[in-house]
Amino acid sequence: MISERTQEIKPFIVMDVLEKAHSMERAGIHVVHLEVGEPDFDTPQCIKDAAIRALQAGYTHYTHSLGLMELREAICRHYRHRYGVAVEPEQVVVTSGTSPAMFMLFAALLEPGDKVIISDPHYACYPNFIRFVGGCPVMIPVYEDDGFQYRPESIAKKIDGRTKAVFINSPSNPTGNLLSHERMEAISRLSPYIVSDEIYHGLVYEGQEHSILEYTDRAFVLNGFSKAYAMTGWRLGYMIAPKDFIRAIQKVQQNFFISANAITQWAGIAALEEAEDDVARMRAIYDERRRFIIKRLREIGFGITVEPTGAFYVLANAKKFSADSYKLAFDILDKAHVGVTPGIVFGANAEGYLRFSYANALENIAEGMDRIERYIEGKLETRNPKPETISSE
Ligand SMILES: Cc1ncc(COP(=O)(O)O)c(C=O)c1O
Repeated sequence: MISERTQEIKPFIVMDVLEKAHSMERAGIHVVHLEVGEPDFDTPQCIKDAAIRALQAGYTHYTHSLGLMELREAICRHYRHRYGVAVEPEQVVVTSGTSPAMFMLFAALLEPGDKVIISDPHYACYPNFIRFVGGCPVMIPVYEDDGFQYRPESIAKKIDGRTKAVFINSPSNPTGNLLSHERMEAISRLSPYIVSDEIYHGLVYEGQEHSILEYTDRAFVLNGFSKAYAMTGWRLGYMIAPKDFIRAIQKVQQNFFISANAITQWAGIAALEEAEDDVARMRAIYDERRRFIIKRLREIGFGITVEPTGAFYVLANAKKFSADSYKLAFDILDKAHVGVTPGIVFGANAEGYLRFSYANALENIAEGMDRIERYIEGKLETRNPKPETISSE
């Protein structure tokens, strides 16, 4: 009786890891969490204060379906200030997180059978959004030795009359890598539209992130407050779209979601206007953890060809330990009591990899690395047992 549409949605395997970890914790086992894709930091105080003020002032009603004008204006100022691009409030739709923005975007953009190009590996939910509205995700493998970056020429080969958009995500989940300026420019010329998930902007440790709007207007930006501002539970995001799409997207919002949460929207204004120092503080801490985890993973024997410089993930090559990332991740959880995400979650081309999140305190990461090191040593020993020492007596 369950619709095919929902049956086709793949489960989010990272949740399977997390749920198993939680049941181990209930049984009294201490687990180190390196599988979780959300900041361990508390939301900055200036953002909480703005929400409390909004609540006390009685801003507890529906807002305009496109979002509070004050927030849309703040988003425009943010894009002008950071990337030098002109965005008008009429192009901005405020949503309850990046995820609903993605749903509304594909609902407005795709006819059944339309194609969207995405990289493999990719954020696990992307193909599900595309398929849910009848679209067809087309995977382009990206490779470790190339920093998991798209090659524009590989994209060009896959574009045909049904291609509506190329999906980019820089810095990326799960790789933590950035698309170079040159490749973004080349990609921006390729497809009718570019969809750019910019949710990890603000969390870049070397080099610089670029918005797709620096290159083309035929683009949809997806962005949100979950990551850089440590606001996952607040559910706030937005989309910047070409003006001719806004009315269609607005109709979807009005019917299915009405508006984003009013109090959260007031908090979002404070995030953009007052939380820059907090973001810088969190970024510096992430960077310290990033350097540490890369060093330790390499010492243990994982392969990291191009160091990730954004988001809070490392996608490490574990092929020399196992070809089956799902089994390996669950074995690490069982035996070493560390949660990690199997690469296969992010696409066939990430099989043999594990994703490590460094959104956890340095001492926990250190403990997790020590446990995995002992686990790997044990695994290698069982594979190549030490020759028995013969007593001289
Ligand atoms: C690449 C990417 N896009 C979107 C999301 C969803 O974010 P939100 O909390 O804004 O819905 C995530 C969450 O992990 C993500 O990693």
